Amino acid sequence: MSRLDDLRSEALSGGGENKIRKRHEEGKLTARERLHLLLDQETFNEMGMLVTHNCNDFGMGGRKIPGDGVVTGYGRIHGRQVYVYAEDFTVFGGSLSKAVADKISRLQDLSLKNGIPIIAIKDSGGARIQEGVNSLAGYGDIFFRNVKASGVVPQISAIMGPCAGGAVYSPALTDFVFMIDKSSYMFLTGPDVIKEVTHEDVTFEDLGGAAAHSRKSGVSHFVVSSEEKCLALIRELMTYLPQNNMSDPPRMVCTDPVERSDESLDTAVPSDSSKPYDMKLVIQSVVDEGKLFQVHEEYAPNMLVGFARMDGMPVGIVANQPAVLAGVLDTLSSAKAARFIRFCDCFNIPLIVFEDAPGFLPGIEQEHAGVIKEGAKLLYAFCEATVPRITVVTRKAFGGAYIAMNSKNIGADMNFAWPTAQIAVMGAKGAVKILFKREIAKDEDPESQRQLLIDEYNEMFNNPWVPAGMGYIDEVIKPHETRFKLISSLRILDGKRESMPPRKHGNGPL
Ligand code: HXC
Repeated sequence: MSRLDDLRSEALSGGGENKIRKRHEEGKLTARERLHLLLDQETFNEMGMLVTHNCNDFGMGGRKIPGDGVVTGYGRIHGRQVYVYAEDFTVFGGSLSKAVADKISRLQDLSLKNGIPIIAIKDSGGARIQEGVNSLAGYGDIFFRNVKASGVVPQISAIMGPCAGGAVYSPALTDFVFMIDKSSYMFLTGPDVIKEVTHEDVTFEDLGGAAAHSRKSGVSHFVVSSEEKCLALIRELMTYLPQNNMSDPPRMVCTDPVERSDESLDTAVPSDSSKPYDMKLVIQSVVDEGKLFQVHEEYAPNMLVGFARMDGMPVGIVANQPAVLAGVLDTLSSAKAARFIRFCDCFNIPLIVFEDAPGFLPGIEQEHAGVIKEGAKLLYAFCEATVPRITVVTRKAFGGAYIAMNSKNIGADMNFAWPTAQIAVMGAKGAVKILFKREIAKDEDPESQRQLLIDEYNEMFNNPWVPAGMGYIDEVIKPHETRFKLISSLRILDGKRESMPPRKHGNGPL
């Protein structure tokens, strides 16, 4: 017994008291402390605690620590099972030996076989330099399993320290990446290599800190100010996710009345159609308890995506944000929404779309940045989604935006429009300019003539009545009825069964 106690206590002290003290002085938690905070109290079961590395080069033979550089195991979050692992920076900087990779791979295999989500806490100096190709092979093993599990079990990564080199690809292959502001970073090549190769000067933070990845690259979905808050946020995210692709997301008891109506919604859209308003307030007024769990909040903010509940049922919200760039669709917002839609579709989470977009953003920069390809991602994601899909057009649904934002023609199940909706190929001003350029130029009073034609166009096209008459809109609703109408639709769509034709996989525009 005492041998076991000794080994356990050796494993629990990781890289030793000094290294743990240093961590704490830096304001960081140890791997096990992180797991204990992430999981329900006293539910962590450690696996592979006595695994050691097999390297004898560079004097490593005499430096074996039970458990090596990662703590692996399972536990519960809100009573539901999860597999978890946390890289232990106190053991060789959390670097990845083959033994560490094997521990992680085993956990990934179990997670896939048992249909249980897996959460990774990353804090590592990357490939264990002393182990050479063995370590690189270990990364390959992990990436391979990340991809196999994609769309089968939710995979979440929290970056709580360095994540450098090819190591960044495991988190990038998972569903959601969390980063801690000013204390975690991710990059393929660090500032020193960059200086050598491109002669650019950059700090760790500017290159790969949480701000860079949440605002510029989009690699990170969530930025949090402390490790404790990050772990709490992962627990919250888990409340929206099912265990796997064969199960439904967890339903909660709904205390917010289904019939609750908010009359202020009736005036939420300004009468001047060029004026912005905050779509987030509209969403909050409609969903249970006003709670919207935003994903990618700081990235491409002209598009809002996130989770909410309706009548206790998790839903994915995708919405144009007219308060930013008039809610226009562009490269980044299209790709952002596409990725979120695909996640929801993998995991049986119905989609609700709030639409107010003047179309795709014109411009050379956008064309050359691939707005065709990126916009196609959005179309592709909606077209292949077989979960219940509902759209509410609050104002503009112009041109490509009408089609791409979950129109009936690309498979939406229910389409609502508010009386303020404007559904047309383009806005009245642009349309009149194209259609009546010559007539206006010839007119004695061109300005009055232009206005007359604009009014006529608005009357004919820029409203929900014509598309509702044609059946493209199922129902024009009063804004304050939105919550009830959406919940009724979700209920009737609850048993939706639809599948794509059999094939190996589609070939979406990557
Ligand atoms: C072995 C490592 C290590 C590594 C750190 N350590 N990284 N040991 N392999 N990759 C050890 C250090 O030797 C040290 O051991 C302890 O961990 C803590 O490291 P420090 O440098 O003292 O910590 P700090 O000052 O906080 O710096 C952290 C760091 C730095 C920025 C991560 O250690 C670093 O630059 N490490 C190397 C990063 C790197 O280039 N990795 C390879 C990337 S390429 P002692 O015993 O002194 O405490 C890669 C390829 C993957 O990963 C490809 C996959 C496809």
